Amino acid sequence: MTTPLMAEALEIAKSLALEAGGIIANNLSVGKQVDFKGVVDPVTSIDRQCEDLILAGLRDAFPAHGIVAEETGGRATESGPCWYVDPIDGTCNFVHSLPHCAVSIAQFVDGRPQVAVVYDPSRNELYEAQNGDGARCNGNGIRVSSSARLDRSLLVTGFPYDRRDKSAFYLAYFEAFLCRAQDLRRLGSAALDLCWVACGRFEGFFEWGLQPWDTAAGWLILREAGGTVTDFRGHGYDPSGRSILASNGLIHQQCLEVLHTVSAAER
Ligand code: IPD
Ligand code: CA
Ligand code: CA
Repeated sequence: MTTPLMAEALEIAKSLALEAGGIIANNLSVGKQVDFKGVVDPVTSIDRQCEDLILAGLRDAFPAHGIVAEETGGRATESGPCWYVDPIDGTCNFVHSLPHCAVSIAQFVDGRPQVAVVYDPSRNELYEAQNGDGARCNGNGIRVSSSARLDRSLLVTGFPYDRRDKSAFYLAYFEAFLCRAQDLRRLGSAALDLCWVACGRFEGFFEWGLQPWDTAAGWLILREAGGTVTDFRGHGYDPSGRSILASNGLIHQQCLEVLHTVSAAER
């Protein structure tokens, strides 16, 4: 059931995502100041500018709420409201002026997702959801696809930032799905990967090593669009966990069997 508090949180998150998205769009094609948090993990002054803007807006509206954000950190609160913010999900694409990245903002209450917004400024697509109220893109209801066959499914995945050290491990999963699905993409924004499963462009998504700010909003949006999200063993999804399998629900068991085959061979 949605409440006036959830509706207010959603409106504020949407307006902050749109404002940050405007900054991203204005800077997509120009040169950026890039620093590296790790060997292949970039951050730009625009990531920081967008995060500062979103955090200032959330603190102004909700001074007592917890906030966990990619560039400035913060501790999750176990009880009460807590926000998860990724100012640019798809920073590597953004650095290369590749128009596929998004602002991701979610509000959890007592550890459960209540409100979610993912905004793709390049396509002007704003995904939103409230717990129990369905998911929308630009105001229109969205649903997962009805494909029930893995071999007719288009999947998407990603590679975490320790990919150079563990490339063979991640490629074993990639290869297994490449040989069983219709095809497999790697687009570089986990938040959009989840939203694109939610609106039926993909049937499924899997990845290791994501952070809560990558998946918090997309998780609720996909769930509200009728999808299923678990870890690689089929257990309930935990955003602070190591793995995510997200699908239209219909191919979930088939994906779990593939993951099990690869995990068994890894042992
Ligand atoms: C990354 C993206 C990418 C995923 C990486 C994430 P960032 O987030 O979601 O798709 O493969 O694991 O870290 O760094 O662009 O915010
Ligand atoms: Ca991210
Ligand atoms: Ca980011």
